[in-house]
Amino acid sequence: MRVLLVGSGGREHALGWKMAQSPRLKALYIAPGNAGTARLRADGAEIANLPVKADDKNALVQTALERKIDLVVIGPEGPLAAGLADDLRAKGLAVFGPSQAAAEIESSKVFSKEFMQRRGIPTAKFSVFRDYDRALAYIHELEHPIVIKASGLAAGKGVIIPENPSQAETALRQIMVEKVFGPSGDDVVLEERMSGPEVSLFGFTDGNSVQVTVPAQDHKRIFDNDRGPNTGGMGAYAPVPVFAPAMAEKIQRSILQPAIDGLREEGRPFVGVLFAGLMLTAQGPKVIEFNCRFGDPEVQVILPLLESDLLEILMACATGHLSEVQIHWSKGAAACVVLASEGYPGKYPSGRPISGLDAARPDSFVFHAGTREQDGRIVTSGGRVLCVTGWGESIPLALKSAYTAIGPIRFEGMQYRKDIGRLAVTSTLHA
Ligand code: AMP
Ligand code: GLY
Repeated sequence: MRVLLVGSGGREHALGWKMAQSPRLKALYIAPGNAGTARLRADGAEIANLPVKADDKNALVQTALERKIDLVVIGPEGPLAAGLADDLRAKGLAVFGPSQAAAEIESSKVFSKEFMQRRGIPTAKFSVFRDYDRALAYIHELEHPIVIKASGLAAGKGVIIPENPSQAETALRQIMVEKVFGPSGDDVVLEERMSGPEVSLFGFTDGNSVQVTVPAQDHKRIFDNDRGPNTGGMGAYAPVPVFAPAMAEKIQRSILQPAIDGLREEGRPFVGVLFAGLMLTAQGPKVIEFNCRFGDPEVQVILPLLESDLLEILMACATGHLSEVQIHWSKGAAACVVLASEGYPGKYPSGRPISGLDAARPDSFVFHAGTREQDGRIVTSGGRVLCVTGWGESIPLALKSAYTAIGPIRFEGMQYRKDIGRLAVTSTLHA
């Protein structure tokens, strides 16, 4: 099988790493990839980065045709929201990733919330506003705490949890008047604030059937003990002890399958992976948000636990045969720690040389996120630079493998959380 993988982050390095283990792989091109994907190897397969940007739809379609690609796998939400999957399918290519219309489940929070409401999918109560003055009046009327969300894509920064009405007012003004997220803030969702542990659950889907992965938990805040601003994710672990196996079945039945059926019935069949960000509230699990792609860094802990052939699963989704595939997961655990640049999630430097990447270990792997090659050296090129994943029979052992593997790695200004997975080790079962 000849595969084109679109994207350049830790998620794409993990997807490439797992696909490279498939005996069916003949060629894997990553557009544009990073220094980690450039180093992927597989017996009997050609693997290479291509200098094609993830947002250059025409060049990606042309590349897929020229290189006789059997399957295109689209990693990030940006190209999906821009309709890359539609353009590829129009040329008869098999694609893992939803159409532009189906990707609205992530790219428009207004669509997503109204969809959940009409489909009876449990989520926080909400109201939608386009008018600043009306939104402002509403937040002053409310008695309960709220969450403010820009409707469009905002690189994980469009959600504000104000601690008082004055913070809410400032956030609302920044989004709706100052337009800090551009047109993504034309519409705003104001919703009830929920509480409870958070879990990410992914469903592979061919548009009809859904098969869930093991659940994972992300760590969104930059500092230990969940302090500081939100980031794209600073670490993750899987599976999640607060999430009993019966809960995964319940969520597949009451959330993922109704979402996939609803999208199909509304003329937006969803092919790819549907990511449910969930909160386990006292009233049961509720959807915080849907995403139209794998979570990063969640997928870096999910794929090491996958015992089946990823390429076969992705192809089955793309061609409508998922129900014929049996997916097996290891009984063990995995954990990852993100090594970030100083200043992240704000402004950060790049071009800093990274050392200590060569120590290969049997129970860990270093996924590259923001790295590139410069004069024969690997240097930093992003906020999240590396994602070090370890695995073992239990979460404590997986954490030990991950933190041990970080040992030799150095770059100037490197920062990472020391408390990844601590809650998993102390929490109780949520049935
Ligand atoms: P999102 O970008 O939608 O995943 O939101 C980012 C984070 O904001 C989530 O991981 C939650 O921690 C928090 N959040 C979003 N919506 C709510 C809500 N309705 N109630 C409480 N926390 C929320
Ligand atoms: N780690 C959360 C996300 O990928 O959206």
